[in-house]
Amino acid sequence: MNDTKTTKPKIMKFNHIIHTTGFAVMILLSSFLFTGCTKEGPQGLPGLDGEDGKDGAQTCSECHNMSEFLVARIEQYNHSTHATGANTNRSTAGCARCHTSMGFRNFIIDSTDVNVDNPTPINCRTCHPIHETFTSDDFALRTTDSITLMNGDIYNYGQSNLCVNCHQARPISPYPDLSSSEKVTISSIHYGPHHAPQANMFMSTGPVEIKGSMPYLNSAHTKMVYNGCVTCHMSPATGVLGGGHQMGVKYTTVSGSEAYQYTGCFTADCHGTVSEINGMIVPNRAEITALIEELNSKLMAKGFFDDHGHLIAPLTLTQKEAAVILNYLFVVEDKSFGAHNFRYTKALLTNSIEALQ
Ligand code: HEC
Ligand code: HEC
Ligand code: HEC
Ligand code: HEC
Ligand code: HEC
Repeated sequence: MNDTKTTKPKIMKFNHIIHTTGFAVMILLSSFLFTGCTKEGPQGLPGLDGEDGKDGAQTCSECHNMSEFLVARIEQYNHSTHATGANTNRSTAGCARCHTSMGFRNFIIDSTDVNVDNPTPINCRTCHPIHETFTSDDFALRTTDSITLMNGDIYNYGQSNLCVNCHQARPISPYPDLSSSEKVTISSIHYGPHHAPQANMFMSTGPVEIKGSMPYLNSAHTKMVYNGCVTCHMSPATGVLGGGHQMGVKYTTVSGSEAYQYTGCFTADCHGTVSEINGMIVPNRAEITALIEELNSKLMAKGFFDDHGHLIAPLTLTQKEAAVILNYLFVVEDKSFGAHNFRYTKALLTNSIEALQ
């Protein structure tokens, strides 16, 4: 999927204009300088004094000013899960690239994943080169390069490529092989895609496509949401509760009830009204939730999971049983109840349930 429509922030376009005009002026000036300098004439009068340079603090005020532009983003961000830094202590090599700011920056520069001392949670500097040029250019994204996922497939959905460095499945070992009749042993209770395989579910790569009554199709989201995660999760904010730099779609209201912010669904005329969206997402969510529960009770009955929903290990299984466990973990850890890729999610669950009959 290479057809990405990336919208750069307006500030960047403005800078582009400044850059191009500046460049044209330079070419014009240099053509004056280099024409007709064959013989040297007498020295001319000294020129006028140049204009004073900009006050160093002036560029600071591109961001640090009396407006609430920056305050709004900081406030949204401070209410996010990223900002809690709940797992910043996962700062050793192998974990630091996703769980610490420095680990991530290190990783995107030269692909190294190292131990990080004095780690910080994900923050503005993780995703933007803040205080590098001290101009509003520093609000650009550190990377929007397409990502080769850990399983080898390429993810390329505009600005969300940034997110997917972290929000993807980790390597899976052993990976079930349905063509083999040998048994397979799962030796760790942490078996599976880890806690954030959203990119994989969105573009349907990673789970084992066990044959069954449902074909593996993709939701329209996979083809039409060019900015992936960013379109839906960073759409215009609902206060500091969801969207924007808070980045949640599901949130808890002040009175404690569950709510969803669907402002992202309206971009580019994808969907028209909240009631239209609810008409689809409410039954879809209910259907996926019921299928997850059904598969969960089958896995519990087989003795693969304990009462707290944790995988039991070691387990020696058929390849198909291991595949069912893996698919279940993919859907549960994706945490979208089908919103990321409804048809694919439904097929995975339905065919996995059938495989255990
Ligand atoms: C691109 C916008 C931008 C520009 C330009 C900018 N800053 Fe900042 N500054 C930020 C952001 C974003 C933060 C971090 C806010 C946070 O982490 O909550 C910050 C934080 C700070 C802090 C708090 C300490 C810290 O590092 O977090 C100071 C002090 C500061 N800036 C000074 C300056 C000075 C002095 C300049 C000009 C020389 C400047 N900034 C230019 C965006 C900018
Ligand atoms: C490819 C990126 C990536 C790597 C590498 C990674 N994690 Fe994570 N991990 C995540 C993301 C993203 C989440 C957040 C999931 C969420 O909250 O939805 C997470 C969540 C977690 C959680 C919280 C689980 C929960 O349910 O609250 C723990 C604990 C954790 N990771 C431990 C580790 C450890 C230990 C390592 C290294 C052995 C590691 N992670 C490596 C991306 C990664
Ligand atoms: C996890 C990555 C991530 C972090 C952390 C992050 N941003 Fe962003 N930011 C983005 C992405 C992606 C965009 C582009 C999407 C958009 O424009 O909404 C963006 C856009 C912006 C923009 C320009 C567009 C706009 O109007 O919002 C500003 C300003 C900004 N971020 C400020 C901040 C500040 C301040 C912080 C820290 C409090 C921060 N960001 C933390 C990912 C991040
Ligand atoms: C550096 C790795 C990294 C990047 C980049 C990143 N995330 Fe995260 N994300 C995490 C981790 C880690 C957590 C969980 C926080 C924790 O456990 O400390 C998380 C949590 C979240 C959550 C909340 C999940 C929950 O269960 O509450 C959302 C939503 C989210 N990220 C969306 C995004 C989006 C959208 C982007 C891109 C704009 C993005 N993330 C970029 C690592 C990352
Ligand atoms: C088409 C819109 C859409 C896209 C694209 C999308 N999401 Fe979501 N996502 C949702 C919706 C809607 C939910 C809430 C589902 C529910 O709880 O019923 C959700 C839930 C989540 C959650 C659980 C926490 C929360 O906020 O509810 C995480 C984490 C998450 N998405 C991360 C991502 C990441 C990372 C990407 C990119 C790989 C992504 N999403 C792409 C719409 C989207």
